[in-house]
Order: sequence, then structure tokens, then C-alpha cells
Amino acid sequence: MAAFVADTLKQRYHSAIVEWQKKNFPELHMLEENWVTYFGSQPKFALIAKVAKLKTDLIEYGKFAGQQKFEKAGAMSGNMFFSARDIIKAQCSTEFGSVQQHRVSLETATGDEAKYCVMRIMAEELRHAYQMFWVLDHDSTWRKLGMGDVAAETMDELLAMKTGEHVLDAFNIEFTDFIDNIIFGAVIDLVGKYQLDMQKVFAYAPMARSMGPMFSEEGFHLGTGKRFLREYSIEACEGRGRWTMPEIQKVLNIWVPRGLEMFGNEKGGTTAVEFGFKDKTNGQAQKEYYEEVSQIVQHANIGVLQTRNPKMSPLECREAVQEITSTGDKVASVKPDEILHMPAMTFFRRRGLDEYVFKPIDLRGNMITEGGKPVKADAFLKYLETQVPSRYVKTADFEKYAGHYRKAEEGGGEGW
Ligand SMILES: [Fe+2]
Ligand SMILES: [Fe+2]
Repeated sequence: MAAFVADTLKQRYHSAIVEWQKKNFPELHMLEENWVTYFGSQPKFALIAKVAKLKTDLIEYGKFAGQQKFEKAGAMSGNMFFSARDIIKAQCSTEFGSVQQHRVSLETATGDEAKYCVMRIMAEELRHAYQMFWVLDHDSTWRKLGMGDVAAETMDELLAMKTGEHVLDAFNIEFTDFIDNIIFGAVIDLVGKYQLDMQKVFAYAPMARSMGPMFSEEGFHLGTGKRFLREYSIEACEGRGRWTMPEIQKVLNIWVPRGLEMFGNEKGGTTAVEFGFKDKTNGQAQKEYYEEVSQIVQHANIGVLQTRNPKMSPLECREAVQEITSTGDKVASVKPDEILHMPAMTFFRRRGLDEYVFKPIDLRGNMITEGGKPVKADAFLKYLETQVPSRYVKTADFEKYAGHYRKAEEGGGEGW
């Protein structure tokens, strides 16, 4: 028995999503035609909403804990209603946004296998956007009396968003190389996994019913990122890859800070728990996330150690990686710049706590100083340019960051 019931959108928005797909992901038919070659007997892609059973009918967290979950959006109070809408909107924006990002560098894939994996991710993100539309579209109480048609306004706004206009920063950065597609899968889709997992308890029932199927699809996205990151790292170690290890490191350096920021301010997130929308606060989830990204990086590093030392056990490889990281020495014929390192949580941050946002902090988390004082913007931005890909330095995102950094240094700026 399927773990969900399939549903579709009403004609107007179903067609709108199909139109959006034709414009932003016209390659979908290739994936459908070649599905069996790459994904065998796994269920084929379908543009549908998947509605799973609730684990419990009761609200599990926050001030309504113990009460029935809300079946109708209109039954939620103003604050709660709009806060739920904002979460659904942000979620949907990430889905549309990532399809737009993946497409730019899709054609530069390292091979058909990698290309079809990314196309499957794109198709599933499209379905996730469809799912969020379903949440808004099938419940007529999102059209709140006296407040206009909140559902239609939100969906129309989402359909019009382009890269640079999305809700979260990570979805406003243009991909410029296929390594972005892969590291994004490993690092940013992992945030998606966390959000979906936290939202399984959602106090608004239709949202809670949507999370399980999305969560299980996210596993493939993450798995693709993890798998190819390790493959490319091993190829780099053998000197036959498209990217060297320092090049892969620079890409990691742009995405990990954005992943961390997707959780929101680490001191916040209590309102979402109060409303029973999530089961963890931002800071809690962010810490677990950082630990899990470290494991993904570790998985790639162990691959490198094993390739160089086929006789070493996985445990010995793990220990060698730790030794290289902590001593900065060459161990088991692997130099520090031949493995990947986690950027510190405080590196290259534009959102979060004052102590590190727009501060000259290096990759290891140390303040860069000169004569006992933190260095000025020019010096730090120069340093930063050496830690990220040069193609990224030319993007609108980096330019915006540099502009805000300079303003923040002058004590001005209205924040990010
Ligand atoms: Fe998704
Ligand atoms: Fe995803």
C-alpha cells in the first residue's frame, strides 16, 4: 500500500505550474523518457501532491499542545495564520529557486549519470513546490474574509520569483559550475531535510501530511550530493578530476555559511515552536546540522585516504583525517590541502549574531587582526576573495555582501 494518497491541484494552478516547468525546466521530458535507464524500477516521477497519514491528530508542541491539529487555515489566529503562510511560502520559494539554480549549470555535468541525478532532484523540487501549492489551494479558508485571497496572492508571487528574488539567500546565488549543483545537494538540501523533519509535527494538519513524502525524496538529493562529492574528491586526489581539492574547498566555503543561515537567527525560532509548527528551535537544529555536514565532509575525506592507502581500514583512515586536521601535518601521504575542511560556523556570515556577522573572521573561526585590532573591510574582503571561487566573486551576491560589509564597518547599514 502506498504511504500516501495522491491528489492534484485545481485546473488553474495545475496549469500554472506546468507552464512554469516548461519555462524553467524544459528538460523534464528527457528525465521521463530515460527514467528506467537511471532509476530502474523506482516509482516514476509524477507531478502530484502526496498526502500522507498523520502520525497523530493532536498538536504536539507549544501553547496548543494536546488540542486537535488545525484542519482549516482560517481557524488559526491572525499571527499564527500569517506565520504559517510565511513558512509555506519560504518552503515553496526554495523549491522553485533550486530548480532555477540547478538548470543554469546542468549542461556542464560531469557525465550522464550525474546529469540525470540532478534532473531527478529538479523534478522532485518541482513536485515539492506543487505540494506547497496544494496546501494553499485545497483549503478555501486561505482566502480570508476581509484580507483578500491570501492563497492566490502567495502563489502568484511565487510563480513570478526569479533567482535574486527568493525568500532565502541560498536560493539567490547563481550557480556557475556543476560543482555547485553537487555541493548544493550535499549542503543545502540537508537543511531542507532538517526543516521537513521538524515540520512533521506542524499544527496545521495539511502541512504536516505533506512532510513525510517530501522528506523521503530529500534523501535522494542529499545522497546524490554526498556521493558525487566523494567521487570528485577521490578524482582530485588521483589528479584526474575536473576540480582540485582546493577548488572544491572554495565551493564548500560559499555554501556552508548559507546553509547555517537558513535556520534563522540561532537565538530565535521559539515562535514556531510555540505555534506547534516545528519541534526544535533554530539554534538546536543548526548545531545538529553542522555536525551532519561535518560527517559528509568526513565521508569524502575518508575516500581520499583510502584511495591513497588501500591497505588502511576505514577506522585508520578516519583517525588519519583527524590527525591531519588537528596538526596540519601530512599524514599517510595526504597533505592538509588534499582533504576538505569544515569552514567555522562564524566564517563569512551575513546573518546571525553581532559577534560574527560582517566581521573579519577566517575559515578556522579566528578574528584576523593587525596590530591587535580587527583588520579593515578592504583587507578582509581581499582575504575572502582567496577563499571562494573567483567566478563567485563576480556574482551579484558577492557584490551585495561586500557592499553591506563596508556599510556595517562604518556603523551604518540596515542589516542584510
Ligand atoms: Fe525540496
Ligand atoms: Fe531537495
